[in-house]
Amino acid sequence: MDRASMPAPGAAPAGRVLEAENIHVAFGGIHALSGVDMTLQQGIVTGLIGPNGAGKTTMVNVLSGFQRPTRGRILLDGADVSRLGPQRMARAGVGRSFQAARLFRDMTVQQNLMVAGIGGGRSRRAAAALAADILSWMGLSAVAGQRCDSLSYGNERRVGIARALALGPAFVLLDEPASGMNEAECDALMHTIAAIPQRFGAGVLLIEHNMRVVMGVCRHILVLDGGRSLAEGPPEAVQNDPDVRRAYLGEKSPAGGAA
Ligand SMILES: Nc1ncnc2c1ncn2[C@@H]1O[C@H](COP(=O)(O)OP(=O)(O)O)[C@@H](O)[C@H]1O
Ligand SMILES: [Mg+2]
Repeated sequence: MDRASMPAPGAAPAGRVLEAENIHVAFGGIHALSGVDMTLQQGIVTGLIGPNGAGKTTMVNVLSGFQRPTRGRILLDGADVSRLGPQRMARAGVGRSFQAARLFRDMTVQQNLMVAGIGGGRSRRAAAALAADILSWMGLSAVAGQRCDSLSYGNERRVGIARALALGPAFVLLDEPASGMNEAECDALMHTIAAIPQRFGAGVLLIEHNMRVVMGVCRHILVLDGGRSLAEGPPEAVQNDPDVRRAYLGEKSPAGGAA
């Protein structure tokens, strides 16, 4: 993969790199991904956008070991990790949230984070300390002892992110973390997400539909459409790309006229 094509505004963050190389995923006759390349760098927020069915969630599943690619490789710091399952990918430093929160609903918030931390290889004590730190940072300390099935919708979404961080990951993949939130909640959450690289040293992959939000938070953006990479680059370039405007924003060409 051509690393030189990645932008490096400011100093390029020295750190870990998670790469997807020529990823194909087929479900029977459905080609969810057809030859997608992507590079995530520790310390920056990368956006993944595209219409429904574009293959975004499949990409996150592949990057986190939940879905084995039909073709192509996943490289973590240059090592081929394509065949590691989700637990081993998590231990290797790749955490994620889910489109639907998927918390352990009969456990407390704190316990959910502990499970992640211990699963990531921490002692109980270290997992507890990290969990407390994350909950405090995310303004969730007040619900630490609450069972997850009693959380408000917004808190449930935020706990999903907190749990991904509780692993202590080098990369955290967030699949539509703001879905169903109102604009103010979404803005607050994006503020938090934008701060993850600084606070935890992790690289972030953010799937989010709201273009304004994505543009504000991401340093680099990949646009998928129909399982293929449509455009890639810094926000300004992607925003002005006519293919992106047509596919993603549903813009008709000016000559289109009717309706
Ligand atoms: N487990 C699966 N079995 C069959 N088809 C799937 C499966 N997961 C996803 N797909 C299909 O793959 C395509 C991409 O889906 P997905 O990655 O969920 O897109 P996005 O997250 O961008 O909306 C869609 O056509 C979807 O229906
Ligand atoms: Mg999806």
